[in-house]
Amino acid sequence: MDESFVPATTEWYYPSDAVVHNALVPDYEATYAEAMADIETFWAQRAKTLHWFEPWQQVLDRSNPPFYQWFVGGKTNIAYNALDRHIKTWRKNKVALIWEGENGDKRTFSYWRLWQEVNKFANVLKSLGVKKGDRVTIYMGRVPELPIAMLACAKIGAIHSVVYGGFSEHALADRIEDAQSRVLVTCDGAWLRGNIVELKQIADEAVHRSPVVEHVVVVRRTGHEVNMQHGRDFWYHDLMNLPIASPVCETEVMDAEDPLFILYTSGTTGKPKGILHTHGGYQVYISTTLEWAFDLKDEDRWWCAADPGWITGHSYIVYGPHILGATSFMYEGAPNYPYPNRWWKMVEEYGISHLYTAPTAIRGLMRFGDAWPNRHNLSSLRMLGTVGEPINPEAWRWYYNVIGKGKLPIIDTFWQTESSGFLICPLPSVGLKPGSATRPFPGIEADVVDEAGNSCPPGTEGYLVIKNPWPGMLRTIYGDPQRMVNQYFSQFSHQGWYMAGDAARKDEDGYFYIIGRLDEVIKVSGYRLGTAEVESGLVSHPAVAEAAVIGVPDEVRGNVIYAYCILRSGFQPSEELVDKLKEHVRHEVGPIAVPSRIEIVTSLPKTKSGKIMRRVLKARAMGQPEGDTSTLEE
Ligand code: WT7
Repeated sequence: MDESFVPATTEWYYPSDAVVHNALVPDYEATYAEAMADIETFWAQRAKTLHWFEPWQQVLDRSNPPFYQWFVGGKTNIAYNALDRHIKTWRKNKVALIWEGENGDKRTFSYWRLWQEVNKFANVLKSLGVKKGDRVTIYMGRVPELPIAMLACAKIGAIHSVVYGGFSEHALADRIEDAQSRVLVTCDGAWLRGNIVELKQIADEAVHRSPVVEHVVVVRRTGHEVNMQHGRDFWYHDLMNLPIASPVCETEVMDAEDPLFILYTSGTTGKPKGILHTHGGYQVYISTTLEWAFDLKDEDRWWCAADPGWITGHSYIVYGPHILGATSFMYEGAPNYPYPNRWWKMVEEYGISHLYTAPTAIRGLMRFGDAWPNRHNLSSLRMLGTVGEPINPEAWRWYYNVIGKGKLPIIDTFWQTESSGFLICPLPSVGLKPGSATRPFPGIEADVVDEAGNSCPPGTEGYLVIKNPWPGMLRTIYGDPQRMVNQYFSQFSHQGWYMAGDAARKDEDGYFYIIGRLDEVIKVSGYRLGTAEVESGLVSHPAVAEAAVIGVPDEVRGNVIYAYCILRSGFQPSEELVDKLKEHVRHEVGPIAVPSRIEIVTSLPKTKSGKIMRRVLKARAMGQPEGDTSTLEE
């Protein structure tokens, strides 16, 4: 198991009385106990806070585990809950979305305006032939049209598949192919650190590889010249000005278990997994977790600094805040552009109440020193949050003391693409310990167990498992249900538990410490990458015969990628070749997948059955003993 992060702390931070007394859920222990006494009644109560066209007949169908079904027979639509229902209330006039571009552009949408834009684009999609159940791939920068496109798909019952704008053509093409999307929505480009990321060009190359795409809708963001293929490509703004783009669009009545989206994530083997979530359970789970953990209220201004292209953005930029009728802020660019005070300036300017980000961003900003945040009035903040990887206590304390002025709770949320929402995180009344995601969310029975499934004693590392179903759990892996069973439910098939894929330990107080992935997933700056994706990117270069990739701990980025390549005969190792290989990975897989170090080697440590022993490579890279190498064959 990966022991790169083993926090040892008995430090406690208690919320103030005011925080606890004003919280929507002021008593974690009582609420947790009540939920666990009967999870079906608990989740049914939560579901009743949302709109259903028709009520469900059964809260939870356990007849075919692990393919659980929630709110069986219920009719709903998440877009109805995120938009339609609000425009019938005073929230029609409330700010739904505030956006700032990296270049300083500003846009604001009331719930009414957002609803209209979504309706218009939903009608545009219909005019392109998109029907209920069809897949639409979305590949965009962080602009308002991204949530608009997602919500428009949901509205007409289409299934969106958002591909993060940091992925390149190969990754995009694979995902288009797997989902069989006939429509792709993209941008002419995206702004990042003052430069343009050529999204349309990458999209063109991906469509060339995956000819299943019939139409490409292009949002104009940068205004620079891009190739538009006649008959295939359309400008978003042109389509939105056609009479067909009526601002009224009927919301499709969906079955609770109808698919809402596919989101691809990395797993143990090469092909990315299309995690599938549905309308009914997902909306209940993400809205409850957001509202309760962050105590989100109407007067707040919520900022989740993730990208909508990852699950964090799906659940906590696009759907969660809008289901709750909250005001959500979204920023396009880099945190330190043009200066390291960019984030703090925006917190002050927009009166942000909640900042939710990844430890890597905190560590990155911490490095610029306290003077940058201290120049700004951050008193509008009332809660802070982190997600994506373990937060080291040093970064935790900086966040707490310098950004939170020693007063604000830090909500460390452990969860996954597969879980759709928080699994382990504090509610406002829970005492905090730096580096711990604290306790399971009400309705979640989490534990740390050994191979045989016995609960590990405090302080002992084991497998993190979830012992009961929850409404937001993944429903399947798109097109490959058996893979879901193998991946998550086979290790503890006897007990029927969900295995998260992380090592963890609990302390004497039942607090969870997540240690890291047990599989071949590497978390780089909080982004989830599979060794296989980077390796196949490398071997697609003509010079590379074989490649092995590992994650090595890094102070700011959590982990960085080291790659070991064996060259094909006829190629010589050189600095220049290494640079070319890096460029190749950037082009094929994306900038986040670029190894920070590539070593040309003549052999790789393998087991006798031919499996690469990444553990040995990692030990070598870190100058540690190689451990048991009895099965090693170079
Ligand atoms: C993996 C899931 C959760 C949305 C973004 C990431 C790691 C996530 C934490 C945390 C320690 C964390 C785990 C998990 N992780 N949150 N608070 N503390 N580790 O979703 O890309 O599906 O990655 O991220 O290793 O398994 P994801």
